[in-house]
Amino acid sequence: MKRLLQKIPDSLLRVGTAFIVFIAAVILVRSLIPASLKNTEEHRKATVEREVAHPVRYAGSEVCADCHEQFELKKKGYHKNLACETCHGVAKEHTENPGDVKPVKNTKREACVLCHIYNPSRPTGFPQINPSIHNPMRLCIECHNPHDPKPQHTPQECQACHAQIARTKAVSSHARLECTTCHTVPEQHKITPRQVRPTIPSDRSFCGKCHAKESKFVGTPKIDLVMHGEKYLCWQCHYPHMPEVE
Ligand code: HEC
Ligand code: HEC
Ligand code: HEC
Ligand code: HEC
Ligand code: HEC
Ligand code: HEC
Ligand code: HEC
Ligand code: HEC
Repeated sequence: MKRLLQKIPDSLLRVGTAFIVFIAAVILVRSLIPASLKNTEEHRKATVEREVAHPVRYAGSEVCADCHEQFELKKKGYHKNLACETCHGVAKEHTENPGDVKPVKNTKREACVLCHIYNPSRPTGFPQINPSIHNPMRLCIECHNPHDPKPQHTPQECQACHAQIARTKAVSSHARLECTTCHTVPEQHKITPRQVRPTIPSDRSFCGKCHAKESKFVGTPKIDLVMHGEKYLCWQCHYPHMPEVE
């Protein structure tokens, strides 16, 4: 036996030893890996057991109705699709022991801004604000009830929302024209402005009503509707809220 070993070249012996050590290591490691990681069946079972063992931390909104009137209030308002625990955090323990465990009650602006800060990727019509100019330094809940948020009042003046256009028009030759001379504005536009939009004049003849040579409108400069800037819409050259041309 000894002679046999001596006959084998050293290098081969070393490779052989390394190979045996490697196989032994593989067997050892495999035996250390729990069965649930090697067998799909066992793996599934163990995962289900582990997840089931987690304590349930959310209670859902329905149970809150038993003790809190906010549930009824919220149901009809703009926040109807938000779960109570979206804002108040996990509350299962609170429902079981309301005296000792209180849910989160975050009154800070950040809590609302999270969803309402202007972000172009939000859907059209989603109510968004710019927190640095929308009543800064004050808590949102001073003016909006978190369980039934509404804008305090619906602004009636176009100027409340279109200040820059109103200021521009006020110093232009169109100053005396009402906004509604040129735009038909549904009442709903003032409540959900992005969803319900006013009309915008669609063709040259609209301006022609007051400015065409044939127009009976008194006191306006007149142009030849056919020849003047013919191919283009009037507002490609005249900003309608400041139509002067230098
Ligand atoms: C079994 C009755 C009960 C249920 C169910 C219940 N609450 Fe309450 N909750 C209470 C009581 C009692 C108080 C303490 C009122 C107080 O301190 O004036 C309270 C207080 C609160 C407060 C105020 C905490 C504070 O710091 O002022 C919040 C927020 C609240 N509950 C949210 C919830 C939410 C969300 C749910 C549903 C997931 C819920 N509650 C379910 C009984 C209940
Ligand atoms: C948009 C976030 C939001 C949602 C959704 C919400 N809350 Fe609140 N909740 C608040 C804020 C903010 C306050 C603190 C109001 C305050 O201090 O004036 C509050 C206060 C409370 C209070 C304490 C009473 C009070 O007025 O201070 C209770 C109770 C409560 N909420 C229950 C609920 C229940 C029940 C639901 C679900 C039906 C719910 N809330 C949904 C934000 C929310
Ligand atoms: C988890 C996201 C979320 C949070 C947090 C949240 N909101 Fe809202 N908010 C909404 C959704 C969704 C609507 C309904 C939008 C719609 O109807 O298109 C809404 C609607 C509103 C409206 C109605 C705007 C309108 O068009 O008249 C106001 C005001 C408002 N929220 C204020 C608040 C205030 C104040 C807070 C903090 C207490 C708050 N929101 C927190 C998601 C949120
Ligand atoms: C001083 C009172 C006041 C405070 C504080 C206030 N708001 Fe408002 N908010 C209003 C009024 C009034 C309107 C309606 C007029 C307007 O759009 O400016 C409004 C409108 C909104 C709208 C609807 C905008 C739209 O385009 O439909 C949202 C959303 C809103 N506020 C969220 C908030 C949030 C979030 C905070 C806190 C960061 C906040 N507000 C703080 C008074 C307030
Ligand atoms: C509550 C705020 C608010 C009030 C009040 C309001 N608007 Fe708007 N208006 C908006 C918003 C927001 C848009 C959409 C702007 C955008 O998408 O860039 C808009 C868009 C428009 C547009 C463009 C429509 C389009 O398809 O591009 C016109 C025109 C307009 N408003 C006219 C008016 C007139 C005229 C009044 C007054 C009778 C008025 N608005 C009152 C907020 C308001
Ligand atoms: C003389 C007619 C006329 C009057 C008066 C007028 N507009 Fe316009 N407005 C237009 C026309 C035309 C367009 C389309 C411009 C374009 O597409 O380039 C327009 C576009 C708009 C737009 C959308 C494009 C933009 O510039 O942001 C808004 C918002 C708007 N008008 C608001 C108002 C408001 C608010 C008033 C009153 C202060 C007003 N308009 C008065 C003719 C008028
Ligand atoms: C309801 C009638 C009316 C309508 C519609 C109207 N305008 Fe005017 N426009 C006037 C009046 C009034 C003046 C001012 C006349 C004056 O005092 O000199 C004026 C002045 C002008 C001026 C001359 C500015 C200057 O002083 O150099 C231009 C350009 C103009 N409008 C373009 C338009 C365009 C473009 C439209 C269509 C978007 C339009 N107007 C729609 C009534 C109207
Ligand atoms: C291609 C650009 C262009 C287009 C399109 C255009 N205009 Fe003009 N408009 C001008 C220029 C430049 C002037 C000033 C020079 C002049 O009087 O010809 C002017 C002047 C005017 C004047 C003042 C005339 C005066 O005597 O003071 C009125 C009113 C006017 N345009 C209305 C309109 C109306 C209405 C339309 C649409 C039917 C329209 N414009 C289309 C470029 C244009």
